[in-house]
Amino acid sequence: MDNHVIVKIKKIEQECSDIKTFWFEQELNASPGQFVMVWLPGIDEKPFTLSSIGNESAISVQKRGIFTEKMHKLKEGDEFGVRGPFGHGFHFGKTTKPLLVGGGCGNANLTALAEMLAEHGKKPAYVLGARTADLLPYEKRLEKISDLYITTDDGSKGEKGFTTQKVEELLGKEGFDCVFACGPEVMLVPLLEVCKKKGIECQFSLERFMKCAVGLCGECCINGKLVCVEGPVFDKKHLEQLTELGKFARTKSGKLVDLGEYSKGNKC
Ligand SMILES: Cc1cc2nc3c(=O)[nH]c(=O)nc-3n(C[C@H](O)[C@H](O)[C@H](O)COP(=O)(O)OP(=O)(O)OC[C@H]3O[C@@H](n4cnc5c(N)ncnc54)[C@H](O)[C@@H]3O)c2cc1C
Ligand code: FES
Repeated sequence: MDNHVIVKIKKIEQECSDIKTFWFEQELNASPGQFVMVWLPGIDEKPFTLSSIGNESAISVQKRGIFTEKMHKLKEGDEFGVRGPFGHGFHFGKTTKPLLVGGGCGNANLTALAEMLAEHGKKPAYVLGARTADLLPYEKRLEKISDLYITTDDGSKGEKGFTTQKVEELLGKEGFDCVFACGPEVMLVPLLEVCKKKGIECQFSLERFMKCAVGLCGECCINGKLVCVEGPVFDKKHLEQLTELGKFARTKSGKLVDLGEYSKGNKC
């Protein structure tokens, strides 16, 4: 779908203190890991993965800046535009024992993936991480369809520590054949190292600044790869080639900056 369709919000759910899910009736023929461009006329257009796929679709929005604050003010019955789906999603056909690892709003597409794996009789293990208990989304949904492990940085729920520590422990004990992950790059880089050390296959979904979503503007480029069309999901072989991962990002002006500077707020 190259043009926007206007969709009406059917239901809004508060997933945790900073994430809301917006359900709308529109079948998008998408696979987990693909994303849509969401348009608020007069405000902006921004990328979001689908947190539910089927007759009813959903996006989950973490409150961060102007666009996401406007989204959080919408009510049931309000409308927004959707363009997509875009990009390549997760390839889960070959996995028989999957381990999913999500941080923050990165859990949106992984929850959709977990549901699809469960539907295909491949109940996943899922490491759900956040800084604190009030920032953990999708717990109830995930409990039903996965073997759920929770980690929080401050120990306010589940095990105290980072998702990567739990993953390393699980990979040492059980015969997982692929790690699927989405979250901040500060989580993905050590996770990739763990997968390399353990010799296990992985697929990570990357979030890079996007404008066009169709490979035209070059904004989402990492090491010469356009994340919007070649990703956002990359496998281990390709992730190992992305030397900018966890180090540099592009601002909305296209400038390559240190990831720390980018994470402070992409206002350039
Ligand atoms: C493929 C993909 C999938 C995503 N899926 C989700 C999701 O499911 N849920 C969710 O809450 N967020 C998701 N995001 C991030 C989401 O697009 C940003 O949170 C949103 O654009 C922030 O806009 P803002 O105006 O509220 O904040 P701003 O103040 O403009 O920015 C806050 C931060 O959001 C990120 N951001 C801002 N604009 C963009 C942009 N055009 N493209 C990418 N990142 C941007 C930057 O890291 C920036 O520092 C996804 C991003 C990508 C690339
Ligand atoms: S967002 Fe324009 S090329 Fe990827």
